[in-house]
Amino acid sequence: MPINYVANAGDIPEGTNIIVDVKGLSIGVYNIGGEFFALLNRCPHEGAPLCKGKICGTTLPSGVYQYEYGRVGELVRCPWHGWEFEIRTGKAIFDEKVRAKSYKVQVDDGKVGIVVG
Ligand code: FES
Repeated sequence: MPINYVANAGDIPEGTNIIVDVKGLSIGVYNIGGEFFALLNRCPHEGAPLCKGKICGTTLPSGVYQYEYGRVGELVRCPWHGWEFEIRTGKAIFDEKVRAKSYKVQVDDGKVGIVVG
């Protein structure tokens, strides 16, 4: 599968993302704790530009009327209806069978590449 280099690693600080075009696809590239991940910039719900959503955390399972917030910086929240997805895997928080499409990312000599077939 061809690697498409889209940025220098230093151009994507930890906790941020950029949106790039690769072969006609809009793809968000994320730096989470120094690791890079890529998601298709299209929400599987109704097609919103998912990667324009906020990088966030979520409420964790907790007691009744207790709202514990965690996983900060690991998720992206869709800007249209608020569905939350794991940036590392693309899985939706509420149902792991629902996924944003993800791509393999490879860093070579400080260059971030996305594997798109
Ligand atoms: S389009 Fe993303 S949650 Fe609805």
